[in-house]
Amino acid sequence: MRRFNVGIIGATGMVGQRFSLILSKHPWFNVVCVAASARSAGKTLKEAVGERWAMKEPMPEALSGMVVMDAEKDIDKIAAMVDFVFCAVNMKKDEIKALEEAYAKAECPVISNNSAHRHTDDVPMVIPEVNPEHIEIIKAQRKRLGTKRGFIAVKSNCSLQSYVPALAPLMEKYKVTKALACTYQAISGAGKTFETMPEIVDNVIPFIGGEEEKSELEPLKIWGHIEGDKIVSADSPSITTQCLRVPVSDGHTAAVFVSFEKKPTKDEILKEWKEFRGVPQELELPSAPKQFLNYFTEDNRPQAKLDRELEGGMAVSIGRLREDSQYDYKFVCLSHNTLRGAAGGAVLLAELLAAKGYFD
Ligand SMILES: NC(=O)c1ccc[n+]([C@@H]2O[C@H](COP(=O)([O-])OP(=O)(O)OC[C@H]3O[C@@H](n4cnc5c(N)ncnc54)[C@H](OP(=O)(O)O)[C@@H]3O)[C@@H](O)[C@H]2O)c1
Repeated sequence: MRRFNVGIIGATGMVGQRFSLILSKHPWFNVVCVAASARSAGKTLKEAVGERWAMKEPMPEALSGMVVMDAEKDIDKIAAMVDFVFCAVNMKKDEIKALEEAYAKAECPVISNNSAHRHTDDVPMVIPEVNPEHIEIIKAQRKRLGTKRGFIAVKSNCSLQSYVPALAPLMEKYKVTKALACTYQAISGAGKTFETMPEIVDNVIPFIGGEEEKSELEPLKIWGHIEGDKIVSADSPSITTQCLRVPVSDGHTAAVFVSFEKKPTKDEILKEWKEFRGVPQELELPSAPKQFLNYFTEDNRPQAKLDRELEGGMAVSIGRLREDSQYDYKFVCLSHNTLRGAAGGAVLLAELLAAKGYFD
């Protein structure tokens, strides 16, 4: 694979910092520019991030001296420097929509972590192991935007990146009819650390704005299909969620209940999880976990602290599968919210798009 020049839009933020770490070691992608708001523009990345650096590893040398560009004013300059950009910014939804479309229209593909375009009909929202075929809608999107290269592709919300993969191999064969998920979400999902969110210490906060709607609706788009120039969402299963913020630095856990049209045995579910392989595994994409779904037999696993880093934070950990008195089964699952759930998931999506020729 040839190397691609990439930019990070929102490089100073929590997800942007993750991007800088992942991409500094990436075999295909080479960071040539970093951008953020006008507040950071003109400073080096190190100066602009300052005290906000929240990663355990230090900022990569190659990036720390890069001068931050203005994500809104320097669109044409950035588009001329890169093959595509990753985008993770904290702005109003309509501003993000306009910003991402402006990059796409400047013939610069955008791989986005933001929610703004997740429900745009011709924007694919992809978990590469689950719905890789949705990238084919990009042709229709390019036609609408009037672009040759430019397009927007997004990844889904971090809250569902454990239970949607866990349900995915069971969907067709056993027909999931309904699912209930209670999520226990880490503070890095809000761009916070224990220093910047002291109110979470010794506490649980029972509300994350907009999260339950995302956790219930986004899976249906992921399980949808392409019809003409649109992705049409699936109309089942029925999903209900409650999303709580808990005092954990990284790693979103979900307690899941599920019912099926054709109830599988416990062994059949375990077999589906063990044998599940997606396109990223077949193509051996650099960020693809070898074993995507990992079942732990111990009663006290998965645990955020012990299991979130499995396969570089790109695998999903599952445990405690057992029959339930109201649903068919219940289980617990976990994924790393800023790796698989954010920057890592976006990098894997970009690898899929690169392998399929979308950046040529
Ligand atoms: N954290 C997660 O686990 C997670 C997971 C999935 C998706 N996301 C999504 O990813 C996005 C970023 O989240 P985050 O947690 O990284 O937020 P964050 O830590 O608050 O970082 C926000 C970034 O946006 C930039 N920004 C703010 N206003 C801007 C403007 N007007 N023009 C250009 N850049 C601007 C900031 O630049 P300055 O430093 O210059 O202000 C910073 O780089 C959000 O849409 C979030 O919903 C986050």
